[in-house]
Amino acid sequence: MDNIVFGIFVVLLALAMKSSANVPLYIGGFIDLNTTNGGWNSGGVYPAIELALQHINQDQSLLQGIKLELVIKDSRCSDAYAIKTLVEHITADHTVVMLIGPGCSIAAEPIAIAGKFWNLVQVAYAAGTPRLSDKTLFPLFYRVNAPETVANLAIVAMLKKFKWSRVAIVKEDVAVFNDVSEGLQLLLRRENISLIGANSFITNPDNVITDLKQKDARIIIVLTYEGKCRKLMCSAFRHGFYGKHIVWLLRGWYVEDWSKVVTDVTCSPQEVQSAHGNYIAFEEVILSTSTEKTINGLTPDQLNKLYLRQARNISYPINSYAAYGYDAMWVVALALNRTNTLLKESGLTLHNFTYDNKYIASIINESTAKTRFFGMSGEVAFLDNGDRISSMWIEQFQDDGEIRVGVFDATHGDTGVDRINVTGSFYWPEGSPPPSEPVTITEIVLIEMPLFVTMATIACAGIFLSTLFLILNIKNRQRTFIRMSSPYLNNFIIAGSIMCYTCVILFGVDVFLDESDHVIHSAICSFRLWLLSCGYTLAFGTMFIKTWRVYKIFTNHKLDKQLGRLHDRHLVCMLALMLSVDLLFLSVWQAVDGLKTEIRNVQTENGRNKITILMPVFLACTCTHKLIWLGCLYTYKGLLMIFGLFLAWETRNVSYPALNDSRYIGLSVYNVVIWVSISVPLGYTVVYDSVNAHFALVSSAINICTTSTLLLVFGPKLRSFSISPEHHPESTRASAKSNVVKQHPECPGCKCE
Ligand SMILES: *[C@@H]1O[C@H](CO)[C@@H](O)[C@H](O)[C@H]1NC(C)=O
Ligand SMILES: *[C@@H]1O[C@H](CO)[C@@H](O)[C@H](O)[C@H]1NC(C)=O
Ligand SMILES: *[C@@H]1O[C@H](CO)[C@@H](O)[C@H](O)[C@H]1NC(C)=O
Ligand SMILES: *[C@@H]1O[C@H](CO)[C@@H](O)[C@H](O)[C@H]1NC(C)=O
Repeated sequence: MDNIVFGIFVVLLALAMKSSANVPLYIGGFIDLNTTNGGWNSGGVYPAIELALQHINQDQSLLQGIKLELVIKDSRCSDAYAIKTLVEHITADHTVVMLIGPGCSIAAEPIAIAGKFWNLVQVAYAAGTPRLSDKTLFPLFYRVNAPETVANLAIVAMLKKFKWSRVAIVKEDVAVFNDVSEGLQLLLRRENISLIGANSFITNPDNVITDLKQKDARIIIVLTYEGKCRKLMCSAFRHGFYGKHIVWLLRGWYVEDWSKVVTDVTCSPQEVQSAHGNYIAFEEVILSTSTEKTINGLTPDQLNKLYLRQARNISYPINSYAAYGYDAMWVVALALNRTNTLLKESGLTLHNFTYDNKYIASIINESTAKTRFFGMSGEVAFLDNGDRISSMWIEQFQDDGEIRVGVFDATHGDTGVDRINVTGSFYWPEGSPPPSEPVTITEIVLIEMPLFVTMATIACAGIFLSTLFLILNIKNRQRTFIRMSSPYLNNFIIAGSIMCYTCVILFGVDVFLDESDHVIHSAICSFRLWLLSCGYTLAFGTMFIKTWRVYKIFTNHKLDKQLGRLHDRHLVCMLALMLSVDLLFLSVWQAVDGLKTEIRNVQTENGRNKITILMPVFLACTCTHKLIWLGCLYTYKGLLMIFGLFLAWETRNVSYPALNDSRYIGLSVYNVVIWVSISVPLGYTVVYDSVNAHFALVSSAINICTTSTLLLVFGPKLRSFSISPEHHPESTRASAKSNVVKQHPECPGCKCE
């Protein structure tokens, strides 16, 4: 049996079946046997070719009077050995009429390009390089297999099926894979699948793996021979570049259990296996699944059983391309049978062929092109360019080996997802195919409940306090102390405060909303702005107007001069004017560039090695020119405050405590200025992204400012309820009168010096 292994051997078969008168006709064969230097070993195809030869020589209807003899040489999947063995064939004593093989593209190409100089028609059984499809370069070349580029169609269809839109290519730097990669890149571009890198390596894949890792590649198409693929997987394992999020798309024509071979890598089979995970492989449908009888009379399955029996005797692994080997031999025989018939008409025989006989070569070429039969691999017929198109098995590594999960129909030449017929089931550790990019899942960040409850409680307590003041204010409006501080206007301060407190609660409603409550959130956004702005104007505006009245009265030294409109009624008008500025401004803002809800991410997590990234988001109130609008609002409020401070300063010496709130106003303004100057810049910088910190800052600023203002304005009056005895209004007025104070007619609460 070892007679085929190395060197030149003449295979003599089935001699007994034919008469000894049969003249031998030689066929030059190439098989890649010694592939210790890498490449694809086609040794396992040999028994199938041998089987075909037996069947051909037994067939009485074929090549009568001729016995085919196959001379096999080892082309070693090497261009150098391919040339060497071709020369050996040509310089041998016998003339070979046709060439069969080799299996490996690297060796097939030089033979195909040189063979035409000796007029040798070549039929290959596994060479897949797309370059060999070029009929102008390789006019006498045929192959019963499909070019490697057919797998590209299947790969792209697969990418589309699993919605993988971001892929990387890794290839061994040899012509066949460079060509396949070029075709693949074209297809990827056409299908809008983004290619993050096409790296190639010659011997050491470490750099490639480092780059893939850095680019966070998930879906990687590998175009290498089996040995380099093992090296790649070993390197991936060493670099920790593996896991559930990575899917490798490999060639399916590696030998069975290719990952368990450890002769050329430093990794154990388990390590290689954990690196490749549940890879997907694409392999031509080589052995026909049909139950039809082949040209030989046996079904493909029966032929395969014969092949397996024959292959037991050789030291090479079973090769899935065996059916192509069998059919390639039949192509040669049928082409020669046809040529033989044609030559007889012109009185020639196949034995008249010489290496410079273009005529016979052209007949062989034509006959080969027209060959059509049903073989072990199904219907065999060549395209115009000498190729054959077949379907592709889609296989996945599951448990301990490759399982066929589907088939891709490549005969249409497109990448339609519907060309994939899934017959088995894919296995995914996560239950579904990992995405080609980490999937971002947004998660809304809500204000912490305890924080919200705390602030809302404080605000409610504030509202309660305001209500209390309101009741006291109304009930005691006849009391001198209250009456003199214009209870009517005080109600506006309280109303303003309640509005501000309500705002705190509205700032926290986010806890109850999610992304779907967009509309409600936008409404609340605008509403609380209106509320806060108006509440502020009501509370402070009223305070300042009151002070303004005091200021007007006390700076009017000529008592007889008409003081003008200082009645509450007029003051309310002033307040209304101030409010209308607010309302006008807010209306313009709302109309031109209203606040809207926007979903903002807080921060982006590093998604490396992760299938899903959790992205916290929050609902932000924003508009195109928020800073400008807010700037205007702050300026208006600030001017109001400066005006208030000025009044407070001017009236600081007024000695009527019931009238003079100036010290308290000063304190309030001071308080507000401090808080605003802390919270506004902080709110826009440090805590902008932190929902909780932002809420805590804003709500405590409002709570503290409002409460302190409320207490400063009403606190002293509250004290007066408890310490001052119940005065009769009349008696107070009397005593006031005795202090040479003249009451202003327009202003019952006011007393003028
Ligand atoms: C295979 O080839 C290598 C080098 O190319 C050589 O060292 C080795 O002896 C060969 N093996 C056989 C069995 O001829
Ligand atoms: C296999 O080899 C054994 C001896 O080594 C031989 O007897 C047998 O016929 C061979 N089988 C085939 C199918 O070649
Ligand atoms: C081979 O050629 C002969 C004619 O010379 C033809 O009758 C026969 O059918 C051919 N054999 C096959 C298998 O096509
Ligand atoms: C073809 O070969 C036969 C012998 O095999 C020979 O008699 C004949 O002359 C040859 N014809 C040509 C054209 O060479």
